[in-house]
Amino acid sequence: MAQIGIYGLGTMGSALALNMAEKGFEVAVTNREASWIDDFITEAGPLAGKLYGHSSLIKFVASLDTPRVILFMIPSGAPMDAMIERIIPLLEPGDTIIDGGNADFHATRRRAAQLSDKNLHFVGMGVSGGEKGARHGPSMMVGGTDHSWAQLKPILRAIAARFDDDPCVDHLGPDGAGHFVKTVHNGIEYADMQAIAEVYGLQRYGASHTPAEIGQMFARWDNGRLKSYLVEITAKALQFDDPKTGHPAVDVIMDAAGQKGTGRWTVVEAVRMGQSANMIEAAVGARSWSSEKETRLKTQEIIGGSRASLDLSEDTLLNAFLAARILNYAQGFRILAAASEEYDWTLDFARIAQVWRAGCIIRSALLDDISEAFANDLPQRQLILAPRFVELLAETIPALRETVAAAVTGGHAVPAMSAALAWYDTMRQGYGTANIIQAQRDFFGYHGFGRLGEEGKHHGPWWD
Ligand code: 6PG
Repeated sequence: MAQIGIYGLGTMGSALALNMAEKGFEVAVTNREASWIDDFITEAGPLAGKLYGHSSLIKFVASLDTPRVILFMIPSGAPMDAMIERIIPLLEPGDTIIDGGNADFHATRRRAAQLSDKNLHFVGMGVSGGEKGARHGPSMMVGGTDHSWAQLKPILRAIAARFDDDPCVDHLGPDGAGHFVKTVHNGIEYADMQAIAEVYGLQRYGASHTPAEIGQMFARWDNGRLKSYLVEITAKALQFDDPKTGHPAVDVIMDAAGQKGTGRWTVVEAVRMGQSANMIEAAVGARSWSSEKETRLKTQEIIGGSRASLDLSEDTLLNAFLAARILNYAQGFRILAAASEEYDWTLDFARIAQVWRAGCIIRSALLDDISEAFANDLPQRQLILAPRFVELLAETIPALRETVAAAVTGGHAVPAMSAALAWYDTMRQGYGTANIIQAQRDFFGYHGFGRLGEEGKHHGPWWD
């Protein structure tokens, strides 16, 4: 009998199945296109002995130890709902099914409720790290019941990435908690990628460095406080040449970014909860603008696209990016805090930061400090108020200011870095400018406002 079943032998499903087999688990596998199954097992080489292929769903389910654990690695959305309908009649109380894709956590909550009516368990699991991560150690964010976690824990801890000896996986909360944390992970991923692209742009178009030179700069950064997967792969990508043309590989790539939706979901959920992560908004928006290729070409032709040369030192850029990265994580954790409250998840932020320390796309040297900051008493649970980050920001914000000011003056767009600075400058003012918004609202709509030092709702003298 197999300990776990995997439905879906695409890139991620196959990689997870091989990872589990390698750790000694017996894994049943199946796939919608039955023809993939034999090929997958043949290509598994010495691991084939741990893999059991079934083209029939009934036989696949029957081959599993009970209570069963079945991991679906298929497109989330309609295909997931269709599979739930097909598999429910084959399951028994206590069985768990897992959606390991990037799913909208609202759908995960709905599915968990639908299955719990039948004494079945539904887990929403965020899996980060791409194909290599899935094969050799992903970071995994699990949402579901304690019962499901007890079933899954030994397998997931065995296959997860490790930071020191700590497996980067945990049970983060019920139903949609795991998928939500993964969604915010991706939002942070978007903003970090955008800030890196902005630094690249300043060096390329403001300082006329070649892609290879910029790649070498990122490689130097990857040794210190900015050590991270995204900086590392950007450093590498920038140093490749295109075999076809001999040009830098990045120069033959169309400047129009794709997005599958998780960044957008983060922004939508944040806004819905009365929050704002303006760096993630900026990053999602920048991808959308990038896709308007034709319009940008026409606009450049009519308006002109000149950008001034800049004189920013490497150190200034490094510190600017470090400040932006800290503020990005801080904003991401604020969204998690809002959701934790709204859905009663009691998310453990220190643990989430630990789960992100290895295996996932946003892994970086900062996450260790972040987890430590959350493990201690943090004023208002705001990362920017942790002593370590107060200090780091004091050191790096002047560079962010210098960078954004120079970029803006010189006509270089830096949406994520300037958003970071706007948020930081807003949050450090105990008395801001929203009094004017309130005066305007009251003036035109008699909406009323709170008065300093007094209770209740008040109106301005313009109504007297
Ligand atoms: C990860 C990645 C992964 C995927 C993104 C890409 O954590 O492994 O985030 O889930 O690469 O979803 O998203 P976009 O296509 O929206 O950039």
